Amino acid sequence: MSNSKDFYFPSQEIVDNATVKSYDDFYKKSIEDREGFWAQEAKQLEWYKPWDKLVDESNHPFYKWFVGAKTNIVHNAIDRHLKTANRNKLALIWEGEPGDLKTYSYHALNREVSEFANILKAMGVHKGDIVTIYMPQIPEQIFAMLACAKIGAAHSVVYGGFSHEALAERINDAKSRVVITADGGFRRGKATQLKSIVNKAMELSPTMEVCITVKRTGEEVYMENDRDYWYHDLKALPIASHKCETEQMDAEDMLFLLYTSGSTGKPKGLVHTHGGYSVYTSATHRMVFDIKPEDRWWCAADPGWITGHSYMVYGPLINGSTIFMYEGAPNHPYPDRWWRMIDKYGITVLYTSPTAIRGLMRYGESWVKRHDISSLRLLGSVGEPINPEAWRWYHDTIGNGKCPIMDTWWQTETGGFVITPLPITPLKPGSATKPFFGHEIGVVNEKGEDVAANDVGALVIKKPWPGMARTIMNDDDRYNETYWKKFEDKKYYHAGDSAKKDEDGYYWIIGRSDDVIKVSGYRLGTAEVESAMVSHPAVAESAAIALPHELKGSGIHVYAILREGREPSKELEKELLNHVAQAMGPIAKPEEVIFADSLPKTRSGKIMRRVLKARALGEDEGDLSTLDD
Ligand code: PRX
Repeated sequence: MSNSKDFYFPSQEIVDNATVKSYDDFYKKSIEDREGFWAQEAKQLEWYKPWDKLVDESNHPFYKWFVGAKTNIVHNAIDRHLKTANRNKLALIWEGEPGDLKTYSYHALNREVSEFANILKAMGVHKGDIVTIYMPQIPEQIFAMLACAKIGAAHSVVYGGFSHEALAERINDAKSRVVITADGGFRRGKATQLKSIVNKAMELSPTMEVCITVKRTGEEVYMENDRDYWYHDLKALPIASHKCETEQMDAEDMLFLLYTSGSTGKPKGLVHTHGGYSVYTSATHRMVFDIKPEDRWWCAADPGWITGHSYMVYGPLINGSTIFMYEGAPNHPYPDRWWRMIDKYGITVLYTSPTAIRGLMRYGESWVKRHDISSLRLLGSVGEPINPEAWRWYHDTIGNGKCPIMDTWWQTETGGFVITPLPITPLKPGSATKPFFGHEIGVVNEKGEDVAANDVGALVIKKPWPGMARTIMNDDDRYNETYWKKFEDKKYYHAGDSAKKDEDGYYWIIGRSDDVIKVSGYRLGTAEVESAMVSHPAVAESAAIALPHELKGSGIHVYAILREGREPSKELEKELLNHVAQAMGPIAKPEEVIFADSLPKTRSGKIMRRVLKARALGEDEGDLSTLDD
């Protein structure tokens, strides 16, 4: 047992106000009767038709939840609130980077979403279609997602920082006919370009027929007849009625597709469904952040990533919360932008990433102290391990020493929080603490056996849960191979992270154990970076590794073997760095290129990135018996 001085204990006020007052009792019950626990949670929602079977485990690893039930996530996120006092409550407060402000009640949100839904129908979008959304952080992004869900189409949101090639690849995999975008958005005082990127992507996408563009920046963009439509033009037509029936869906129907990076080159389109995802995101959001009706919830993520899907849009709206959304950069025009907005809107919970915290920390606390941010009652962290220094700054300076930090470990694949504290949990800086209810977690060796306390092992989830991804779009085999094959006989979900559990049962996430790199919390694959590198005519072969970076958590470092006749130079390095940023998007720009004559490989020809990494860090290179040369 650790010394109690290692812990940060919640205040009496937090404990008094907490809905769940004892983690251990509640957890034990949720494990002993997992199905009972999830059924109880599901009953907090409305269903058009209840389920016949809670979970169908007959076709491992393709689990089905709430089998036979009829629902639509929009029914719970909007429709049902219209019958209660939530109708006139604010659903969304949005601030644009230039300082413009928009607010929508649940009633107004319903009108916006219904109009958008009718427009999509008029554009020929049907139940089961996949619509690609490539947008800045403006309210229409949320309306577009909900409009798709409302009519039973799935959405595939592509992060607005991705390149046209990355966008085209995702459009093509999903076979989208319709893309929703904007002319651009505002970032650091400048207008970003989105429509022009979509135009280039559409040239590479044979299935693409219709593009709907929201006007945000007013910059000139190219529009083509019979393909391109301004959203405001469509909205002015009679087709855009504000009355639209919500489509009744099977619980297992696809709600969305979200692409994420894995070990091999092609991004994986993970599939989430209406029923299980509704239950999981709302239950985790409500219980982990002990959501109160008066909360103003700010998840400072981009809806282009799972955090935005689960905890900016769906979970909070199902719980009837008021969500806050901000368009632009945290340090524009000054580094106090976030604290100013927390003060202005009375935000009560802030959920963000360690990278954002580190980025703001470097400006010092005087920027924070200019504002009254005492409305905050809880803080959250997600996306990468949070270093204790950033944790303490977040806790002491932003939370004024009184706001517990919910360090939530989860993944695109899990749909929502898996390892996380509750407000009452004694915290240790840097640990995501304990499993959420209904979850049994393991840190295991190669054979899938639990390792001893404080030993490092592979992180696994031992039992299925409603928010789990159902498959990889068009690739059931890859889904099985990536997440379930490794511990097949035990039926464990293999998360791809390494971790340890300490003597108090607290989990410490160490990081990815596969070829995924987390740059500023964004998930990128080494293989994607490498294939961008070798698409440059000077590069014959390449290897990408992650090394620690003070602000970003990890930075990408690439090794390059040049083609005959090409010489290393500073100019070529710059060209290659820009080439990768062009091919993938600016977030993937490596820190440096290291020119090499050869790369360490196994006898079967696989690049041993761990050897490169150990060398770069001056660490022990480990077992080299499989090294070819
Ligand atoms: O390595 C873990 C890290 O992020 C990975 C999942 O990335 P993604 O699917 O993009 O989802 C990010 C948002 C949920 C995990 O495999 N990760 C996520 N949260 C944490 C974390 N690492 C440490 N601590 C966390 N709280």
